[in-house]
Formats: sequence, structure tokens, C-alpha cells
Amino acid sequence: TWTTHNVVEEQVAAIRAQVGTKRAICGLSGGVDSAVAAALVQRAIGDQLTCVYVDHGLMRKGETEQVEKDFVAATGVKLKVVDAEERFLSALAGVTDPEEKRKIIGREFIRVFEQAQAEIIAEAGASGEPVEFLVQGTLYPDVVESGGGSGTANIKSHHNVGGLPEDLEFQLIEPLRKLFKDEVRMVGQELGLPEEIVQRQPFPGPGLGIRIVGEVTKDRLDLLRDADAIARAELTAAGLDREIWQCPVVLLADVRSVGVQGDGRTYGHPIVLRPVSSEDAMTADWSRLPYEVLEKISTRITNEVRDVNRVVVDVTSKPPGTIEWE
Ligand code: XMP
Repeated sequence: TWTTHNVVEEQVAAIRAQVGTKRAICGLSGGVDSAVAAALVQRAIGDQLTCVYVDHGLMRKGETEQVEKDFVAATGVKLKVVDAEERFLSALAGVTDPEEKRKIIGREFIRVFEQAQAEIIAEAGASGEPVEFLVQGTLYPDVVESGGGSGTANIKSHHNVGGLPEDLEFQLIEPLRKLFKDEVRMVGQELGLPEEIVQRQPFPGPGLGIRIVGEVTKDRLDLLRDADAIARAELTAAGLDREIWQCPVVLLADVRSVGVQGDGRTYGHPIVLRPVSSEDAMTADWSRLPYEVLEKISTRITNEVRDVNRVVVDVTSKPPGTIEWE
């Protein structure tokens, strides 16, 4: 029978057998999936695991600090934070195609993990066990939508599946590969992770890089971070966090429209709000947010975020839309 207890027991045994006395690293993104995968592997191999958090410059406001604080406090895991903003932004310079962005981000993640691997080996000296394994929080829907399921088309390359480089030197440990999100949350609970981590809304590994339609630049990221922080704060204040599955905030960087502010003409960018409800992200419905909340978010974003003069709401279900715009 399927119980979270059995899933944990089975995975712990399998991971122990696979890793032996060697070591592993786990990419931590701040999301539920990688947190649960890390906690599971930690249960299996303890401090043979080092978590690596890649600050790729595509995170939301306050996110890096939160991961450093919450996850370490909850698990006591060894954490290495790598500042990789420049590496990612220069790799993404000039790129507008969504799949190309995803592949670049997936590749750069692995390059950073390889660098972390080398550093961990160097720190341990000659007597250290090799770091051969990379833990990823890949879920069943990630595999299916990246074209990994039998007979399915590639809808988009999730950064940790279809976006992996071909010359990957790590052996992968993916203990959540058969699970859906709600099951992952239950496993997280079983492992004793706190509510703040287990109930977090999904956020994609490629971060805001796939929420800027157009080229990703530091300037545009800063602008989107401001708009996103406002939307998140207002949704939380309205008590809607549990009701909506997630609400991507998207910057249409290559679109401008005419507006008016005070006595003057503006020519700015639109921000899209994409609130959805869903069970497993394979399908989704657009959320009917209260008008007062939409009004508040719209007023604040257009007043407080430079270069944004319009806020629009995406009222498309999945299918035919996907949740993220890229
Ligand atoms: P889509 O846009 O495919 O998204 O409807 C389904 C769910 O997956 C998240 N998502 C990702 N998560 N790496 C991730 O870790 C990715 O590359 C990725 N792409 C989409 C998305 O936020 C939604 O929850």
C-alpha cells in the first residue's frame, strides 16, 4: 500500500544502497521539491550530503536569504551558497527564445554544481570520498512535460530534465520522480519539515528568467522583482495563499503601450498577473481573484514600479495556456 511512511523507508534504503560511503550534492532552489528531496537524502546519508544553493540572479526578492535561514534552521543541513548571477546573466544575454533560455539555465546549473563538487573535494583533501551524485527534486509532471514520458510531446524543457547537458558527469538521485506535488508535500510532512516549506507555492527553477518575455537583463529583473513583491504581498495580505496554486508575475519586456500619468504621456511595459488554481500543475484554471485585490495590486504596481504603466490579468486555463508564459 502507498503510504508516505513506506515511500520514505523505500527511498532511504535505495539511496543508501546507491551512494554507499560516497558523497552527494543537492541543488536547493527554495521550492518544495528540492527541499523534500534534500531532506529525504539527508535522512539516508546524513552529512555525506551537501546542499548547494545557486543564486542565479533570477530569484525573487528576499528569496536567497529565506532559503539560507529557513532550510538550514529546519534541517541543519550543510549548505553552500554560490553567487552565480554574472555567469547566468552573461549566458542569457541576447537570448529571447524560451527553450533556449531553459537549456542555457539548465546547463549553467550543472556547471555551478561541478564547480561546487570540485570545491568540496578540495576542502576534504586527498582522503575524502568522491562526490559522485547529484540529487534533484524532479517530479513526475516535470518528466512527462519535458517529453520523458512514453509517447508525450516536449511541451517545455524543465531545467532539471530536458535542460540537462549531454556531458553530465554526475549520477542522478531523483527520489521524487514518481510523485505528484501533493504527495511530495505529504512526504515533506512525514520528514518533519515545517509548514512554511511544505506549503510553499511552486516556483520554477529557472526563476524569473522565464517570466520576462524578451531578453533577460539585470534592469528588467529588478523591475519584475519589484512588481512580483507587490503582487505577493497583496495576495498574502488578502489571505489567498492557500487558495491559489501560484501566481506568476510576468514582464512583457518587448511590448510597450501608451499611458498617461499626471500631465504626461507614458510609454511603458505591461505586467501580467497569472493566478491559477490546480491540483498537480498538469492542468489549471485561472483564479477568480476578488476585484478589490486586483485593484490594489494594479494601483500599487503602476504607481510604484518604474516603466510599468499597465497591469493585465491572464484568464486562460491550462490547456490551452501553460502556467508559465515560457
Ligand atoms: P507549466 O508552465 O509547464 O508549469 O504549466 C507547470 C508547473 O511547473 C513549474 N515549472 C517548472 N518548475 N523547473 C521547475 O522546477 C522548470 O523548468 C519549470 N517550468 C515550469 C511551473 O511554475 C508550474 O508550477
